Amino acid sequence: MKIAWCITGAGHFLKESYEVFRAIKKEIKITTFISNAGVEVLRMYGIFDKLKEISSGDYMEEIFMEKEQGSSSPKAGRFSLKKYDAVVLSPATSNTVAKIAYGIADSLVTNVVSLATKACIPVYIVPTDGSPGKVESEMPYSIDRDKCRGCDDCEPRDKCERGAIYGAPIPQIDLLRCDGCALCRELCPYDAINGGVVEIKAREIDIRNVDVLRKMEGIIILERPEHFFFFYKKENLC
Ligand SMILES: Cc1cc2nc3c(=O)[nH]c(=O)nc-3n(C[C@H](O)[C@H](O)[C@H](O)COP(=O)(O)O)c2cc1C
Repeated sequence: MKIAWCITGAGHFLKESYEVFRAIKKEIKITTFISNAGVEVLRMYGIFDKLKEISSGDYMEEIFMEKEQGSSSPKAGRFSLKKYDAVVLSPATSNTVAKIAYGIADSLVTNVVSLATKACIPVYIVPTDGSPGKVESEMPYSIDRDKCRGCDDCEPRDKCERGAIYGAPIPQIDLLRCDGCALCRELCPYDAINGGVVEIKAREIDIRNVDVLRKMEGIIILERPEHFFFFYKKENLC
C-alpha cells in the first residue's frame, strides 16, 4: 500500500503531522510532495532534515519539491496512473485550501489533489483554519527584545552555522536562513531566543472554504493529523 503525503507552508499542526507521517512510514511507503512555502516552513521548525533522514529517496519514497517540479508538476501524473491508495494533505494552509475549493491546480500540491480526486483516490485533508474560535500555534525562533541584553559578543549570532542571526545591538533572525537547529537558544545565557506560542483565530472565509471542501467528492476533512490513524487502520491501508 502506498500513500502520498503533501505538506504546505503551515506551522500549525506541522510537528503533529510529522509525527503521524513518521509512525506510518515505518510500515508503508510514503512519497512526499512539498509546496515552496512548505520547504521554508519545514526548515524553520527544524523538521526538513528529519524528513529527509527518514525518506530513502527510492522509488515511491521520494521527496518532490514544488520548485523542482516546473509549472505542470509531471510527478503528479502518478495519480492518474493510480500508483497511490490515498493522499494525505497535512498541514493544509488556508491558501491551498482556498485554491482547491475553487478548482485551482496551479501548484504541486493542488495538482496532486486535482489528479487524485479525478482518479478516485481518497484525499484526507487537515486544514489549519477549519473551525471557529482560537487555536494555539507554535512560532519559529525569534529574539525576545525584552530579554536580550544586546551583548557585544553574541554567541548565538557568531556561532549560527547558517549565518541566520544578524544585526546589533539587538540581533534579528532571518527565518529563510534558519534551519530550526535550536543551537542559538542553547547558547543565549538570557533565554532571549524562543519560539513561543500564539493564539490565532481562523477567518470566516477560511472556514467557509473548508466547508466547500467537505462537500467535495473524494475529500475527507480531518480535524487533526492524528485522526488519519483511524482511517489508515479502518481502510486497511497498512
Ligand atoms: C512560520 C510560518 C508559519 C505559517 N503558518 C501558517 C499556518 O499555520 N496556516 C496557514 O494557512 N498559513 C501559514 N503560513 C503562511 C503560508 O506559508 C503562506 O500563506 C504561503 O503562501 C502558503 O503557500 P502554500 O499553500 O503553497 O504552502 C505560515 C508562514 C510562516 C512563515
